[in-house]
Amino acid sequence: MVNASEVSHDELQRYYDALGPIRDLVLDQSLTEVMVNGPENIYVERAGKILLTDRKFDDENHLLRVIDFIVSAVGRRIDFRTPMVDARLLDGSRVNAVIAPIALDGPMLTIRKFSRDPYQAEDLVNFGTISPEAVGFLKACVMARANLLISGGTGTGKTTLLNVCSSFIPTDERIVTIEDAAELQLHQEHVCRMESRPPDLNGEHRVAIRDLVINSLRMRPDRIVVGECRAGEALDMLQAMNTGHDGSLTTLHANSTRDALSRLETMVLMAGIDLPMRAIRQQVASAVDLIVQLSRMRDGGRKVTSITEITGMEGDTITMQEIFLFESHGVDKQGNIKGVFRPTGIRPHIMDKLFAAGVPIPPELSRVFPDRRAGESGQGGPERRAA
Ligand SMILES: Nc1ncnc2c1ncn2[C@@H]1O[C@H](COP(=O)(O)OP(=O)(O)O)[C@@H](O)[C@H]1O
Ligand SMILES: [Mg+2]
Repeated sequence: MVNASEVSHDELQRYYDALGPIRDLVLDQSLTEVMVNGPENIYVERAGKILLTDRKFDDENHLLRVIDFIVSAVGRRIDFRTPMVDARLLDGSRVNAVIAPIALDGPMLTIRKFSRDPYQAEDLVNFGTISPEAVGFLKACVMARANLLISGGTGTGKTTLLNVCSSFIPTDERIVTIEDAAELQLHQEHVCRMESRPPDLNGEHRVAIRDLVINSLRMRPDRIVVGECRAGEALDMLQAMNTGHDGSLTTLHANSTRDALSRLETMVLMAGIDLPMRAIRQQVASAVDLIVQLSRMRDGGRKVTSITEITGMEGDTITMQEIFLFESHGVDKQGNIKGVFRPTGIRPHIMDKLFAAGVPIPPELSRVFPDRRAGESGQGGPERRAA
């Protein structure tokens, strides 16, 4: 794989020049996405809004040449037999290309721009994605080794939030990250990064996320962070979480918390092991501590709409309780969604674990959920005394 840091300045300039009409869009740091639908329609996303640009390729062949250039620079190929390809730009941006016969109205190219300085917790608070108390809660949960699932649709900010949550992992732990295309940017010292590999032209030598999850268990991980669970690896992750590898983090594609649970069940079934539904649910209920749900609002903003705790099973149903909830208060004059993200007041079971672990808990939160352990003092830190 080519890496921007190994390429000379001139080569880098030539690379960007070869991108033709999208060169400047790729270099523009204020854009988060570049979307090409055929030679005539080039869209970008800026601050959550999609805009049509006046850029155009000369014709379909011109666009095909640029796609071919991008794809072959990372050793992949696109043609009528493999008309869909994932690749990356030299700067790390994720690329997806689709051509005929799959693409009906000309080749399509989607570039998810790599952000050199990814959003931090404070940014998400400033954007109104999440409240400071909820960040404090998630931070304490990550430090206390809770198993966290981040759920949301495409582009809702799952990977971004996963990156923020992973940044809360203590620096002395050994972290193994597993992704389809490396996007996470962790700053801890001890990080082992792995990326899956699609099958080659003969359909061989594929290394799936699942293979990497299984392999990671032999690498003495303190934490396993999986970029996104899509299939059978869900079973291996649940088993890992249930056998001492707690504190694992991942994301999955689902539009609600309930939906996330049924997606998990479906993914476990994809592992091809015949498990009764009840056994699967028991695995889920005992492995997963929290589900954080993200949604993209009509105004383009991304919001954490709920943080839900899994509490156990009742009969055949997984039980859960909402700890934080976004309460919508309608729309302001600019069309922006208004509302507040606040604790529901239900005391999370995990609170006792957080106090016992002695992790920092924001004062606002320990006021709502005080330390109930009797006869102990000084364990909860200054926040607790402030409560
Ligand atoms: N909370 C947020 N507010 C505004 N933009 C965000 C937020 N989270 C992510 N983004 C932007 O949205 C795009 C998609 O984010 P990403 O985390 O990759 O989503 P997902 O993993 O759900 O597909 C990126 O360009 C990212 O910079
Ligand atoms: Mg993602």
